[in-house]
Amino acid sequence: MAARHFLTLNDMTTGELEQLLDHASRLRAEWHAGKTRDSLKNRVLAMIFEKSSTRTRVSFEAGMTQLGGAALFLSPRDTQLGRGEPIEDSAIVISSMVDAVMIRTFAHETVEKFAAASSKPVINALTDDFHPCQLLADMQTYREHRGSIRGATVAWIGDGNNMCHSYINAAEQFDFHLNVACPEGYEPAASLLNAHSDRVTVVREPEDAARNADLLVTDVWASMGQEDEQKAREKAFRNYQINPKLMSVAAKDALFMHCLPAHRGEEISADMMEHPGSVVWHEAENRLHAQKALLEFLILNRLD
Ligand code: CP
Ligand code: NVA
Repeated sequence: MAARHFLTLNDMTTGELEQLLDHASRLRAEWHAGKTRDSLKNRVLAMIFEKSSTRTRVSFEAGMTQLGGAALFLSPRDTQLGRGEPIEDSAIVISSMVDAVMIRTFAHETVEKFAAASSKPVINALTDDFHPCQLLADMQTYREHRGSIRGATVAWIGDGNNMCHSYINAAEQFDFHLNVACPEGYEPAASLLNAHSDRVTVVREPEDAARNADLLVTDVWASMGQEDEQKAREKAFRNYQINPKLMSVAAKDALFMHCLPAHRGEEISADMMEHPGSVVWHEAENRLHAQKALLEFLILNRLD
């Protein structure tokens, strides 16, 4: 049987995603109750990181250990991947020795190529185009605070980047409306906007996106790999900040999320992390629980 991959949210059905999030919340409760679990005993996850990470690395590595398995950290600096061994050859070899592979890289095509040659499940842990694992944690966090997100309005303030693209996929899968406020030239990919035109509205003014929204989300102005655009982006995104004033035009009990790392004074004001609507720390912790549920789903084909 061909391995099941998780390269975007579209690799799962809505039903599977909802079951996975329910399971993730159960795993969270069990973890907080001090219960142990060894569902992935003797299983190994290979983690290929071509970009930096704190949350993704710690959550996958700790998650595998907590489920009785192990994780291998592989960087291109010390593997043959960094010396030009073809992706497909690496995929065949690595997947013959482990139970799943997680990849954080630049081009989305790289994870697609790896997955096509891999005999084991491949997880996209962020590419230039998508960050689906973060969306699992965000959707879990929304449900744990507010229940179903169906019919809600979500405001994305800032760059039409990998996170924004995954929010567009989430809008479709979880049935909510996404308002995107971004400067001209920083819109999400036209192909995604066209495919989901009934789900996504692009506006220029952050207030137009945030008005009556149930959830406000943002991300850094310059993503990994865009360091040399930092100055130009600081200018373009100057007015695209989530702050208490913007929160005040949203729905009364609106939540605030950020995948982190956050740049206080840029995409958020210095006081946003502690705002009453902020659930950023809960969101960050949920990376652990959502990915443990994902690993069990992909490796064991179980969602409970
Ligand atoms: N949100 C997120 O993916 O964080 P890291 O870059 O620290 O993994
Ligand atoms: N858009 C950011 C997300 C970091 C988790 C980046 O790609 O750097």
